[in-house]
Amino acid sequence: MARGPDVFMAMPRAGQGGVTAVHAPRGSDPSVVIETLRLNKFYGKVHALRDLDLQVHEGDVFGFLGPNGAGKTTFTKILLGFVKPTTGWSYLFGQDVHAGGRQVLSRVGIVPDQFGFYPNLTGRAHLDFYGRLYGLAARDRESRIEELTKLVRLEHRMETKVGGYSHGMRQRLVIAHALLNDPDLIIFDEPTTGLDPKGAYEVRQLLRQLASRGVTTFLSSHILFEVEEICTKVAILNRGVLLKLATVRELKKEFSAVSGEQLEIVVDNPGTRILDAVRGTKGVVDLKAEAQRLTATIDDPDQVPKVVEAVVGAGGRIRRVVERQVSLEDLFLHYTDDGLGPGAPQKPVVPPGVHQAASTTRASRWKEGKR
Ligand SMILES: Nc1ncnc2c1ncn2[C@@H]1O[C@H](COP(=O)(O)OP(=O)(O)O)[C@@H](O)[C@H]1O
Ligand SMILES: [Mg+2]
Repeated sequence: MARGPDVFMAMPRAGQGGVTAVHAPRGSDPSVVIETLRLNKFYGKVHALRDLDLQVHEGDVFGFLGPNGAGKTTFTKILLGFVKPTTGWSYLFGQDVHAGGRQVLSRVGIVPDQFGFYPNLTGRAHLDFYGRLYGLAARDRESRIEELTKLVRLEHRMETKVGGYSHGMRQRLVIAHALLNDPDLIIFDEPTTGLDPKGAYEVRQLLRQLASRGVTTFLSSHILFEVEEICTKVAILNRGVLLKLATVRELKKEFSAVSGEQLEIVVDNPGTRILDAVRGTKGVVDLKAEAQRLTATIDDPDQVPKVVEAVVGAGGRIRRVVERQVSLEDLFLHYTDDGLGPGAPQKPVVPPGVHQAASTTRASRWKEGKR
């Protein structure tokens, strides 16, 4: 059912206080797993989430990307019912957990940003305890724990006390715990933050493996390449404002249309014939040649095969093709510029070279910036 404009008129507005007294009519699309409507959260004067409208569909591997303080944890806490929105609505599987729909939480696996362990209990004791909480029968618990500990590669550490686990091992135990109830949706809140490189790598491998199984995944992260590698869709959040929501591919395509994408082709036999052929190819906006290396700037990544064909068609013997893809980091910095605040999408386009130089400093500042 389409939501009419009257629905929106009835909703409380940001900044006017009050809680979600009015129930918003819901769409009937069962493939929508997470939905929020004009979600706002104030902590005192801090406007942590602003008019957030977001939908996550069944099977999405959804990246929720934003720097520290963007509102990611607040958003997941609202979804799960731990924090009440100031205004607006949130739904999980069509149910409002803030209005009595808590039973849907049994379909959700959670890897929170912090998890309390009992250092003197073994890994098995932890999983067994939570398995009981979920109401799994003894035999199911045993087989499920065995299956999951293999998945997270802790099968040889199950009888060890968690106090002796590395941070990465603990995080993998939390992931096993989140999967105990065979969830239809898994929510990860910054699952690799604070892990050493090896631990983070292992958790990422696991995320990738889970994502490939088709379970709807919501991954909040401030690590750009993590979202880029694992997710199919991405929402960019900055200071509580949703700046972008699209597939990673769409975002890259849109961005390369304004900033250009670099394609490097190394040929054995450079020459004007090849250069002319590349220049004459649709989508090529700039071309530089240096010895055997041609660097073409293209405005559409879909034109890559055409450029390669042009080189071959002009008799070029290709040794190497490197596509310097727009990274999510480029994108993120394009959409969130400290000087421009939430309105950043309107920011004037910076030429690619300038953008690169600027992005390095801003990226490192951003990585350090804990609020
Ligand atoms: N319990 C709280 N009380 C007051 N302010 C909070 C609280 N939780 C979060 N905030 C503030 O809300 C904003 C969003 O925080 P958070 O959701 O933790 O962001 P993220 O998870 O993206 O780092 C930040 O400005 C943070 O300081
Ligand atoms: Mg957080």
